[in-house]
Amino acid sequence: MQFSGRISRISVSSTMAVMAKADKMKASGIKVVDFGAGEPDFPTPDNIKQAAVAALEANFTKYTPTGGTRELKQAIVEWHARNFGSDYTPDECLVTVGGKHAIFEAVMATIDHGDEVILPVPYWVSFMDIVNYAGGKVVLLDTREEEGFTFTARDVEKLITPKTRMIIVNSPCNPSGAVVPPEEMEKLLALAVRHNALLMSDECYSHFLYDGRQPYSVGCTRNRENLIIVGSLSKTFAMTGWRVGYALADAKLVGNMLKLQSHSTSNPTSIAQKAAVEALRGPQDSIRVMLAEYHGRRDRIVAGLREIPSVKCNIPQGAFYVYPNIGAYLKKDGIPDATRLAERLLDEASLALVPGPAFGTEPHVRISYATSMEQIEEGLRRLKEFFAKL
Ligand SMILES: Cc1ncc(COP(=O)(O)O)c(C=O)c1O
Repeated sequence: MQFSGRISRISVSSTMAVMAKADKMKASGIKVVDFGAGEPDFPTPDNIKQAAVAALEANFTKYTPTGGTRELKQAIVEWHARNFGSDYTPDECLVTVGGKHAIFEAVMATIDHGDEVILPVPYWVSFMDIVNYAGGKVVLLDTREEEGFTFTARDVEKLITPKTRMIIVNSPCNPSGAVVPPEEMEKLLALAVRHNALLMSDECYSHFLYDGRQPYSVGCTRNRENLIIVGSLSKTFAMTGWRVGYALADAKLVGNMLKLQSHSTSNPTSIAQKAAVEALRGPQDSIRVMLAEYHGRRDRIVAGLREIPSVKCNIPQGAFYVYPNIGAYLKKDGIPDATRLAERLLDEASLALVPGPAFGTEPHVRISYATSMEQIEEGLRRLKEFFAKL
């Protein structure tokens, strides 16, 4: 069988590969500590589930407008305005099948062969593959671990060429937890305007910020033509399986993304859209509860990792991942790289995590602390034991 050139430019998401193997082990009765999954371990709040039940009972089970119901678009722009002071209209909003879908459509709608896309390292793996799929050229921006993997607009500016079409920023960042300060975000938007590029701001983790940092969205009321915001209900409302995300952008870009959506997924699930309206308009306390819990877990896991000799670990400022440097253990005991280390951890300690090469750096691993404190303690115990043996 022959396959297209574009499909061979991408590979299966490595985070999914780890999850699949860990799931297989769990199914066979092995007690795996799962630090791999990037999803909240909290259930979807009850009011949201009840809205879905009500939608089912009211037979809200048919096609909706391709880009989402007017009601949900209105709820999204109002929620965004309440949280960030933006002033998008429903015509500047597209409801998608998860945030990843919004990113995919935005890249497909704007990136042609040879167009350059600036992507800070470490990056969430799908950004890389989506740009490659579109035929774009990823231009990697190196960041410094000692500075918490954050970067400035000046760093980005050095990589701008006449071919630059897009700058991708994911703050707080998966996998590093790095946060780009508001003033740098504004400078990045100004940079995009100056160079006629598009700033894509991925706000999927916008509400998971620690140490008193406040949720922030770039631009808000200006420069629509050079900005696309992608967001998701997956993490904020513990709704990963419901598949609801959105894009906020200039109406022309939204229209072009909608064209693609009309020939592929069509509308996001009708019932999930009703649940999403409740998530955005109903009580917001669950976000605070999750954040407080993640905060405690972050502090515990960073402290635990720092007790392991030669492991270096930044304190993440947001999201729910830590990205420790385990470089001192590579080349020991026949372990050539972080990918092999992750395989051995799964095989020998039944502990799942994602190796750094999936995010563009070699000597790191990503640990998700969206899991119970009990699992975190057990995972730390297994990690200590494993590294002590090397
Ligand atoms: C940085 C980032 N963006 C977007 C997404 C997409 O999430 P979803 O498609 O579930 O909305 C994820 C999920 O892990 C993510 O980590």
